[in-house]
Amino acid sequence: MTVDLHADTPMPLRVAAIEDVADGIRSFELVQPDGAALPEFTPGSHVKVQTPGGALRKYSLCNDPAERHRYVIAVKRDDAGQGGSLSMHTQLKVGDTLPTSAPDNAFPLVDKARGYVFIAGGIGITPILSMIRSFGELPPAPWKLYYLTRSAETTAFLKELRNPEWKRNVVIHHDEGDPDNAYDLWAALEKPNTGHVYCCGPRGLMESVRDMTGHWTHGNIHFESFNEGGGVKADDKPFVVRLARSGQEFEVPVGQSILSVLRAHGCEVASSCESGTCGTCRTTLLEGEADHRDMVLFPEEMDSQIMVCVSRAKSERLVIDR
Ligand code: FES
Repeated sequence: MTVDLHADTPMPLRVAAIEDVADGIRSFELVQPDGAALPEFTPGSHVKVQTPGGALRKYSLCNDPAERHRYVIAVKRDDAGQGGSLSMHTQLKVGDTLPTSAPDNAFPLVDKARGYVFIAGGIGITPILSMIRSFGELPPAPWKLYYLTRSAETTAFLKELRNPEWKRNVVIHHDEGDPDNAYDLWAALEKPNTGHVYCCGPRGLMESVRDMTGHWTHGNIHFESFNEGGGVKADDKPFVVRLARSGQEFEVPVGQSILSVLRAHGCEVASSCESGTCGTCRTTLLEGEADHRDMVLFPEEMDSQIMVCVSRAKSERLVIDR
């Protein structure tokens, strides 16, 4: 996903180590060139980096938040993507400098919960790993991780997650690419409000978790993804967004978000994940029919709210409360 660094001044961090942690997944350890402590981060945080190819990308930090001497990110190589991950894999070397933002957190861990249900699909393990690591030897509540991947070879951090200390809390399932072999999460989610659910992974996984948690308290379900909110769909059309307070109208072209159009016209809109999972850009919808593409809104909110980072319009015009 292409993102703006906005006013962030990136830190020129040095790549201290690179490791292949699974087929197509490489981890990068980033440190201050002078060995100084890095800004603190909380479990679930991410940083934005400027990849060697020039694109800006967000990656979750997967090391223990107690560590101040390094950030560790893991990058899945996407040969069909826009080149950001590919340049991280093919161009970045130990000793290189990687412009990196201070950490931000759009997926914070609730520190007082009855329990934690973590659901990770593929590379979605990264923010969840920092959460589990933050528990140390005395977890604040019972936790269980369901880690769903295609195969053992493509599963990052497998050895670590099978360590004796964590083993009884971790379910690892490989579907071998067969949808009929998908893990059934219903047993884990059937009883509502047994704690907080944290899900990070492909959109299909997040949607099925959302569908299976309709009977939970909404605030107990948390999603994160840095994939674009469904990307460009074949039937996407341009539409007009009208700002009710100023009366300004802007066209939102195919391939651009309402958020990016508003920003381009100097309108400040708070955002964080920019992938429809954190809720920061929630905006009141006054008129028009939205094409909701986020993981935040529940059905009863969809007529009156919109996440402007990913959602579009089914009608020709939307009027929003700005
Ligand atoms: Fe996170 Fe829009 S910025 S939902």
